[in-house]
Amino acid sequence: MTRALVTGATGMLGSHLVDRLLAPGLTVRAYVRPVSDISRLKGRSVEIVFGDADTEEAIRRAVAGADLVFHTAGYLSPDAPFDTEGRSPLYRTVNVDFTASLLAASLEAGVRRFIYTSSNSVYDIEADVPTGEDAPLRPVSAYGRSKLEAEELVRAYQARGLNGTIIRPGVIYGPRDRYFLPAMLRLARLPLLPLIDGGTRLLDMIYVEDVVTLMWEASQAEVAVGKVYNAGPEEPTSLRALMDAYRKVTGRGPRIVSVPSGMVKRAAPFLRRLIGPLFPGAAGVLSPVGLKLLTCDLHLDMSRARAELGYRPRFSLEQGLAETLNRLKGGKA
Ligand SMILES: NC(=O)c1ccc[n+]([C@@H]2O[C@H](COP(=O)([O-])OP(=O)(O)OC[C@H]3O[C@@H](n4cnc5c(N)ncnc54)[C@H](OP(=O)(O)O)[C@@H]3O)[C@@H](O)[C@H]2O)c1
Repeated sequence: MTRALVTGATGMLGSHLVDRLLAPGLTVRAYVRPVSDISRLKGRSVEIVFGDADTEEAIRRAVAGADLVFHTAGYLSPDAPFDTEGRSPLYRTVNVDFTASLLAASLEAGVRRFIYTSSNSVYDIEADVPTGEDAPLRPVSAYGRSKLEAEELVRAYQARGLNGTIIRPGVIYGPRDRYFLPAMLRLARLPLLPLIDGGTRLLDMIYVEDVVTLMWEASQAEVAVGKVYNAGPEEPTSLRALMDAYRKVTGRGPRIVSVPSGMVKRAAPFLRRLIGPLFPGAAGVLSPVGLKLLTCDLHLDMSRARAELGYRPRFSLEQGLAETLNRLKGGKA
């Protein structure tokens, strides 16, 4: 029997991973916070270990006897991509220090494979598109910096003998998405939706089950040891494509009004002064870095995962959205 430990098992990615790992020949252990909602894990063959990002003894207990560790727990927030200063200490305690403790415990326990979920936010936003894994790393957000620091820890432990693999997803969406899709669905229900440059800027959206597949394949392939893999869609996606998919799936959608990026950039300093004190998150969006993020193309090169792991995403944007909406409607999210 192979034992797999999943951190973040109550989150979007971790919960789908648990669903996938509950298969013959595998036993699944979940590391969850005492405050986590574990209702989806109850009554299933999942061993639960309670602990937090800084409870070393619980972390060691969670790792003991595990062959595979999938580290998906992380601190992110809706404004994380735009928060350059790092207003929360959780970027460090959850994203960096927790990863360090988990790596130390995994090395000590003789874990066979350690799969770390990083993010595309570690890349330089001015990197060439499509962005390959060897592109320059220069995160602009505190979130991205914390994910890069955690990656560096994974590489340091790799050098000490722990077989690590790093996965860098674009925007993950699907059932149990806490941030991105709920916000997008609110926008999709508006009659009129202003989008910068008509929402045509590239933004990689990847259905959660495709990320799970990639992580699983990486955990099984010898070639993936010590490697980094992007996790993105087959075809480039954009907010406009998402709204188009929403219209195809539901038969309705907002009328998109294109707002030229130049106009937004000119108005941003004024808007920032106006709303910044009330909504610090919005101020981040309107900051020079936020505007750069919203007006650049973000698209991952998937050729490494395709060539080495045989990766082919199963879900187009339309299929992923349809699946999510169906499951939300059926109460099976
Ligand atoms: N969502 C995306 O678009 C995206 C894109 C790229 C990379 N990623 C990365 O992918 C991973 C999974 O993302 P997600 O969207 O599934 O996030 P999520 O739904 O917010 O889930 C985060 C998980 O981490 C757990 N967690 C948070 N703080 C913790 C702590 N102090 N101790 C133990 N567990 C803690 C949460 O527990 P609770 O249930 O108790 O809150 C939850 O299980 C993260 O590492 C994220 O950085 C996400």
